[in-house]
Amino acid sequence: MVPSTQKLIHTFGALADLGQEVANTGDFSEMVRTSMHLLLGTLALRRGAVAESGSGRVLTCLALWGLDEGLFVQLEIHEEDETEFLESELSALLVAQGQSAFLKRHQALLGREGIELIVPMVVQNKLTGFVLLGGKASGEEFSAEDFETIRAMVRHIGVGIHTHRLIEQVAQRAEENRRLYEELRAIYRDTVRAFAAAIDIKDKYTQGHSERVGRYSEIIAREMGWSEDEVEGIQIAGYLHDVGKLVVDRNIINAPYHIDAKLSSELNRHPAAGYEILAPINHPYADIPLMAKYHHERLDGRGYPDGLTDEQIPLGAKIVSLADSFDAMTTDRPYRRRRSIEDVVRDLRQNSGKQFDSKVVVAFARAILKELTGETKERRIIKMLGKGYLDGEQVPTLLSDLIVELDCNR
Ligand SMILES: [Fe+2]
Repeated sequence: MVPSTQKLIHTFGALADLGQEVANTGDFSEMVRTSMHLLLGTLALRRGAVAESGSGRVLTCLALWGLDEGLFVQLEIHEEDETEFLESELSALLVAQGQSAFLKRHQALLGREGIELIVPMVVQNKLTGFVLLGGKASGEEFSAEDFETIRAMVRHIGVGIHTHRLIEQVAQRAEENRRLYEELRAIYRDTVRAFAAAIDIKDKYTQGHSERVGRYSEIIAREMGWSEDEVEGIQIAGYLHDVGKLVVDRNIINAPYHIDAKLSSELNRHPAAGYEILAPINHPYADIPLMAKYHHERLDGRGYPDGLTDEQIPLGAKIVSLADSFDAMTTDRPYRRRRSIEDVVRDLRQNSGKQFDSKVVVAFARAILKELTGETKERRIIKMLGKGYLDGEQVPTLLSDLIVELDCNR
């Protein structure tokens, strides 16, 4: 083979290797180092370096061979240098010829260090940095072919560095966006909790009701295997389920006795009113307005506002419904004391399949049982119910029996 053909094939091979190296986004420093060594190896050069020009025209050395890193501290770039380099595009500048103001200023220093060529890396009309190259090991002069090879390889390296920085910027923006989104979510959650507290203040007998319904709903949904995002959504739905009470007369909500049919139909407006309030809001979780609207629906169709039946009721609304009723049964009201856990379990058994979804009841019973047996370290339900409420010896058995019975009936 003719020597120049051999050389051409060798150069092509090096370019192909370089292309692969540049496309490898894994280890950036390694990519620059290997690319530089490919360039030095292809032309058998004694020394070289790749430097990036950062903000404030400071040069950062990314890779070097046979040179001292201290050199880069002494290389200053001025505004006019940048213009000159951009105009020169990718041509290699011979240090000995002092073709630019930059070279004129640093000619002596670069000469001492054995640097013969400076090649600016220009990508999309911006100076990305330089490649500094020493002379050939053979002592030969650079040929026109060599300059072509250098030009092509430096272009590859420049594009590699530029692309890497772009990817870094995109990742940084994505991280900033993620943080902003987290902050917004936190603000939304705090606002919702403040709102829940406002709803409960209107109803003086059920302090903390909305907050507890939110927590019970969250516990049930998690027990049912919902994703963390969905769990967070249903917790919000629990907090807001009674938001419609804000439009109901305070005297009806706070009536210290069982209210008559007329007043009760006024009170029963609250789920639909809640939907009207929540629907125009762009919630970060799905179906929150529907969960509020249907939290008084029953599987047997005797609920309100729409008298939906089993399959028509969203699962989330069924969860909030159980959490709501459970809290109503286990807290004191003006006209009655709270019911015992034995009584509550009896109610859940009787009303499963009629008012409550058996799957949801089973999940809730399981979550309570896990706290009682110590299977979960958290004791959130126990804390919400207060000291002693679940202490009865028979409680775990009652819950296990309920789970077995409802599981069998399904
Ligand atoms: Fe309600």
